[in-house]
Amino acid sequence: MANKTVQSVRGFVDLLPEDAWKWQFLEATAREVFQLYGFEEIRTPLLEKTDLFSRSVGEATDIVGKEMYTFTDRSGDSLSLRPEGTAPVVRAYLEHGFAKSHPESSFYYLAPMFRHERPQHGRLRQFHQIGAELFGIPGPEADAEIISLQADLLSRMGLKDFSLAINSLGCRACQPEYHRRLVGFLEPLAPKLCPNCQKRVRGNPLRVLDCKEAECRALLRSQSVPRISDSLCPACSEHFSELQAILKTMGLEFTLDPFLVRGLDYYTRTAFEIYPGKSGSQSRTDAISAGGRYDELISDLGGPALPAVGFALGMERILLQLPEIPPPAKKPAVALLAMGVSARRLVQKLARELRENGFPARADLKGGSFKAQIHRADRAGAGLVLILGEDEIRDQTVMVKDLKKSEQEKIPAKDLVAYLRNKLS
Ligand code: HAM
Repeated sequence: MANKTVQSVRGFVDLLPEDAWKWQFLEATAREVFQLYGFEEIRTPLLEKTDLFSRSVGEATDIVGKEMYTFTDRSGDSLSLRPEGTAPVVRAYLEHGFAKSHPESSFYYLAPMFRHERPQHGRLRQFHQIGAELFGIPGPEADAEIISLQADLLSRMGLKDFSLAINSLGCRACQPEYHRRLVGFLEPLAPKLCPNCQKRVRGNPLRVLDCKEAECRALLRSQSVPRISDSLCPACSEHFSELQAILKTMGLEFTLDPFLVRGLDYYTRTAFEIYPGKSGSQSRTDAISAGGRYDELISDLGGPALPAVGFALGMERILLQLPEIPPPAKKPAVALLAMGVSARRLVQKLARELRENGFPARADLKGGSFKAQIHRADRAGAGLVLILGEDEIRDQTVMVKDLKKSEQEKIPAKDLVAYLRNKLS
């Protein structure tokens, strides 16, 4: 019986060379923009203690309750593949003493995340985020900076149309009263809500507001749902108004969305999402980028009371929205081929010398007839082919063949680098 091939895991996809350069473009653009904003890169491990996410993202969320890749390792510890980047960055910020030494730090990351969701268009089990976290600044200026950073990233990546929706989720002072009002309002409606929302009414009532089920959405929009904006304490209310004023001054357009609540529990005050197109959150397409303020998370994870705000952008999601990105111009490649056994080793030596001098060089590793080697060089896109045979070895030359012009000339080996520099410049 023939051996069966092994397939990749559902929701985990390969990135093939034909697409890799698009990712390189996104990554390079992100690094450029982060540098302009003065953010520094941080890389945290893929695996964290499960507890980190239960205590931050929240036990009652879909992410922690249903979607984490969690297992017990050989030491008996419960570990999880990170489903998001904020909690690990906060852990690292505390673990490495930044909260004391540099409380006002700003970090960025480009990293894979893992959630056991139902794979579909733009929704994967391993996906990639470009994210940033800004620590230590309590005012709405930090929220505006993070929003501006996202807008600049998207524009530089080539996304023309996107819309920003914002909301305030209040703070620990005003959230409990709002939750009480919301639960009181939702309880009588519960039998008409989807089974998930029936559970959420008591467990996580805010999430009922952004349920994706059509019946829940229609029902809630036909009712006068209590709005968090009517329950904000004076300090939260001022923070939110000031943020809106700053965004207007900065020329960053936004809409207010009282149904925007986010799927992670750590948010306080500002929450935002960016959607493709101009119609915004009304279209209820998946957000490309999202985030908000989380002023309690650092202390919830054992640190001092320090505020923070951040965002993460989904790389797969942005790629779905971008127009064709032109591939980078190919550097003229030099292909080397050997005629005869003694030439083969010398060809690899020569290829190394050329690479040391900065020329992308492709030595033919397979050998065979002259015709077959030329054909492979042509298919690889080589502009020039360097041929080494018995004659060339004897008189220390290299035959240079220009495939496009169908011309060839013999060059002394010692002059080859200068010749190529001149020819390929
Ligand atoms: P999030 O909304 O869960 O927030 O994810 C942020 C972005 O990651 C989403 O807007 C989306 O583009 C992308 N994303 C999420 N899940 C998937 C998936 N299954 N497949 C493809 N893309 C996905 C967070 O993760 C927060 N940590 C953001 C944040 C940073 N808040 C403050 N700082």
